Amino acid sequence: MTQIVHLNGKFLPIDQAFVPVLDRGFIFGDGVYEVIPVYSRHVFRLEEHLKRLQNSLDGIRLANPHSNEEWAALIRELVALNEGDDQYIYFHVTRGVAKRDHAFPKGVAPTVFMMSSPLATPPKELFEAGVSAVSAVDNRWDRCDIKAIALLPNVLLRQIAVDAGAVETILFRDGVLTEGAASNIFAVENGAILAPPKDNHMLPGITYDLVLELAAANGIPLQVGKFAEARIRAADELWLTSSTKEVLPITRFDGQPVGTGKPGAVFWKMHALYQDYKARVMRAPA
Ligand code: PDD
Repeated sequence: MTQIVHLNGKFLPIDQAFVPVLDRGFIFGDGVYEVIPVYSRHVFRLEEHLKRLQNSLDGIRLANPHSNEEWAALIRELVALNEGDDQYIYFHVTRGVAKRDHAFPKGVAPTVFMMSSPLATPPKELFEAGVSAVSAVDNRWDRCDIKAIALLPNVLLRQIAVDAGAVETILFRDGVLTEGAASNIFAVENGAILAPPKDNHMLPGITYDLVLELAAANGIPLQVGKFAEARIRAADELWLTSSTKEVLPITRFDGQPVGTGKPGAVFWKMHALYQDYKARVMRAPA
C-alpha cells in the first residue's frame, strides 16, 4: 500500500507531496516537529505531544495552525489511511513559503506536513544485549527544549556514534549530562534512577515523563538533578529513551562496559513496567 501523507489540508501519496523550494523549513530550518508512536492504532499520549508542540511553537513565535481537536482528527485520519497497527507519526509546522529573508514574513500561511511510517520497536535481542554509546560535548544552542526541525547539530553528534559503530551519542555540557543526540539519557546508581532536569538544555521527552511516572508509582528511587560526567561514567546502568526506541539499556560507553556490561536489574524492572503500561493503556480492547 502507498504511504499516505498530509500536506496543507490534503491527504496524498508521498510521491505526490511537494513543498516549494522557498519554504522556510527548507531554507532556514524554520519550524518545529513532533514524533508520536501509535500502538494498535491508539495514539500514544497525544495530549502531552500536542502540549509540547505548543511549547515549541511558542518558542519560535509561530501561531499554532490547528486546535488540538483538529490535530487529533488529522492524526486519526492519517493513521486510518496507512497500513499497520503500529505506526509513528512525524509532523511538522514551518513558517511557510516566502522570499528569502531572515525576518519573519507577514501574512504567510505556515506549512503543515504529516506522515506515518511503520513503527518497529527494538527487538528482544537488543534489550538483552544492550547497545553502545559514545560521548561528545553538547555544542547545541541554548533552547534544546524546542523540538526544532533545524537538527544539524544533532545530526552531526549522532553521526559520531554511527561512525564508531554505536547507536547513540551521550552529551555533556560544561561537564554535566544533558541528553542523547536523539534521545533522553538516564543513569542508575545504587538502585536509584538519576535523570537530568527538564530545562532548556534538553528536549522534555514524552517517554522521559512516562519513565519518571512509572518510577514514582512503583517506588523506584529517583533523583532529578545535574549529574557530573564522572558520576555518569561510574553509573551501574545507563539507558536511553525515545518514542521510537522506548527504553533501551546502554551496556558499552566509550568502549567500556557499563556496570556488569549487561542490562541491569533496574532496567529490567522499568522495561516490564513500560511494556505493561503499553499493554494496559495502549493495546487494551476499546
Ligand atoms: N527524537 N531528545 C532528543 C534530542 C530527541 O530528538 C528525542 C526524540 C528525545 C526523546 O523524546 P520523546 O521521548 O518524546 O521521543 C529526546 C525523536 C524520536 C526523533 O527526532 O525522531
